Amino acid sequence: RPPASQMEEASLLRRANCRSKGGAHGFKVAILGAAGGIGQPLAMLMKMNPLVSVLHLYDVVNSPGVTADISHMNTGAVIRGFLGQSQLENALTGIDLVIIPAGVPRKPGMTRDDLFNINAGIVKTLCEGVSKFCPMAIVNLISNPVNSTVPIAAEVFKKAGTYNPKRLLGVTTLDVVRANTFVAEVLGVDPRDVNVPVIGGHAGITILPLLSQVNPSYSFTQEEISYLTDRIQNGGTEVVEAKAGAGSATLSMAYAAAKFADACLRGLRGDANILECSFVACQVTELPFFASKVRLGRSGVEEVLPLGPLNEFERAGLEKAKKELAISIQKGVSFINK
Ligand code: NAD
Ligand code: LMR
Repeated sequence: RPPASQMEEASLLRRANCRSKGGAHGFKVAILGAAGGIGQPLAMLMKMNPLVSVLHLYDVVNSPGVTADISHMNTGAVIRGFLGQSQLENALTGIDLVIIPAGVPRKPGMTRDDLFNINAGIVKTLCEGVSKFCPMAIVNLISNPVNSTVPIAAEVFKKAGTYNPKRLLGVTTLDVVRANTFVAEVLGVDPRDVNVPVIGGHAGITILPLLSQVNPSYSFTQEEISYLTDRIQNGGTEVVEAKAGAGSATLSMAYAAAKFADACLRGLRGDANILECSFVACQVTELPFFASKVRLGRSGVEEVLPLGPLNEFERAGLEKAKKELAISIQKGVSFINK
């Protein structure tokens, strides 16, 4: 009997030979930070995704254990684990989609910006790896503060000469997931039947749910608008406080990240009309980055859609959000160019 690792390699080769990218739609995905609170359930969900042929799990701790565990799932994706900086090259080479949940989470009383000092360096190092080893990959960036880490990633890619704004997406899907859930509770309907665009950024008042654009359309009272806006903007803090020092949202985030990654992969495959909200480089406002409705496709972000009509309450929220966003974006840019 060949040892398990040789058998796994043989199986990988067999599967790689019979699937080609865009043919049988087997994509290669890497999760950086795969042994963490988000990383582990996200790894499980990506192992269950039929569009994934190869799944690389990278972390600086515990990735061998998580890899061994997930490798026993009898789904199609072949799993490989990578531990520590020396294995980053092998973790990233040949990858189509990189998902990054590496970094520290909040504790009660902290803002997402309080994570900047630690997470900025982690994101910088990992994005340098992406620019060297898989510069054409789509990047889904989860690590907080997203309003600053996405600009950091963009600057790293610019310095390396590999930047393509279509391929860098900050993950804000959890805001949409929460908005749909909370709105469905108010309306007494199934959350799967609700869609609320959430724009701006991913922190406090920069999270701007467009309740006036809810689908199916509904006219909320002022009281409902206040309650829903506050709950959606503070959904992350609600979880941080409930976890009381044990971290922030991990399971709902893994669900949201898996949903967003699946949309990116369907876009890469060439499916039509894949619409999601994401924090991306765009011109929908005067800011260089803004969470917007985007159409995903073979090259990543194929189109950034306009904000659409906003009511007076949303227009006022937009002005406040832009002030805070401008500071967070500049902080990320300065971190790389200091
Ligand atoms: P966690 O501490 O449970 O896991 C983080 C993982 O990152 C750990 O396994 C750690 O070893 C790993 N890591 C640290 N440095 C690394 C490096 N240089 N390379 C690779 N891996 C490294 O944290 P978590 O709960 O999984 O949260 C991760 C991040 O995601 C936090 O910054 C959190 O704020 C953020 N987050 C974002 C959203 C969002 O909506 N975008 C939602 C929830 C959490
Ligand atoms: C969230 O929205 O749950 C995440 O950004 C984590 C956090 O710190 O709130």
